[in-house]
Amino acid sequence: MRNKVKRGLVVFLTMTIAIFFAFTISHAKDWTLKLSHGDAESPNPTHQTSLKFKELVEKYTNGGVKVVIYANNALGNEQEVAQAVRQGNIEGEILATTNLQPLAPSIGVLQLPYLFGGHEESWKTITATLPEIRSRVLQESGVRIVAIYEKGFRVMSNSKKPVEVIGDLQGLKIRTSKSKAPIETFKAWGLEVIPMAWDEVFSALQQKVIDGQENPYTTLVTSKFFEVQKYVTEIHYTLWTGPLIISEKWFQQLPAEYQEAITKAGAESATFEWKYSTDMIEGTKKDLVEKYNMVLSGPPKDEEIWKEKAMSIWPSFYNDFGGEEWVKKFLEIKAEATK
Ligand code: MLT
Repeated sequence: MRNKVKRGLVVFLTMTIAIFFAFTISHAKDWTLKLSHGDAESPNPTHQTSLKFKELVEKYTNGGVKVVIYANNALGNEQEVAQAVRQGNIEGEILATTNLQPLAPSIGVLQLPYLFGGHEESWKTITATLPEIRSRVLQESGVRIVAIYEKGFRVMSNSKKPVEVIGDLQGLKIRTSKSKAPIETFKAWGLEVIPMAWDEVFSALQQKVIDGQENPYTTLVTSKFFEVQKYVTEIHYTLWTGPLIISEKWFQQLPAEYQEAITKAGAESATFEWKYSTDMIEGTKKDLVEKYNMVLSGPPKDEEIWKEKAMSIWPSFYNDFGGEEWVKKFLEIKAEATK
């Protein structure tokens, strides 16, 4: 009996010491989260949100996890960095949904053309669908989504002419990301686009390899596109949404409370970003006209035609966006969350 008690005590003490050492080692280690994004170090919502996320992570981990921000595609373009995050070579990235979709099909649903009519609808939908999107994307790509941001509608800019009706697209060389949704949507509107990585866009516009591109209003100012673009059309076909992704390999090595801290910081950074972006858009539009002399045409005069053509190709996206069942489920959750 006494031997049994002794043995029990030894096992208990050994386990306590092992847990103590494991805890001490994991907390004594320096954890660094390299966070990449493709926007300038500027008032751009992506950059400001990366700073907010850094502040929150460092606060909630008492400095146990340091976040080092690499802006301006310094570590590679968005699709390349997403691969590196998957492999665990870079810990985190903020990127456009359009640039994650080739690696993680299920997030593509957020890009179905004319899915969202505005901000509130997208925030409610993102909040309600995030758990399912997160788990699907984790399985598909090995990256963990901790937040999904939203920067307003992607608007189309070009250097050649106002685009007011669908026929005006003809003759324009428009760049989109290398992702199915924009490529096929423009095709439905009668235009073959030029798919290109984001970090090449400014110089391609400058050298007139392309005439135009589509990104939010805020990007036109913070990436200085006003220097090489003149006309803007509010095509309303999709919101710029984009996740903050973390390498799952790295995340699983963290102590549990650091994992919680990162999850909490991610959620709070999204609330920050949604408001920051929305507040910025009206002032940006004013600056584009008054300071930078751009011509803003508003929505196309025949917007219904654009919408009809783009929505008619929804079924062609299902296989690339995680399958029809998933798209259906997503739409059901959206309907419930926004009714
Ligand atoms: C793109 O068009 O590739 C992206 O929207 C760029 C970005 O992340 O802002």
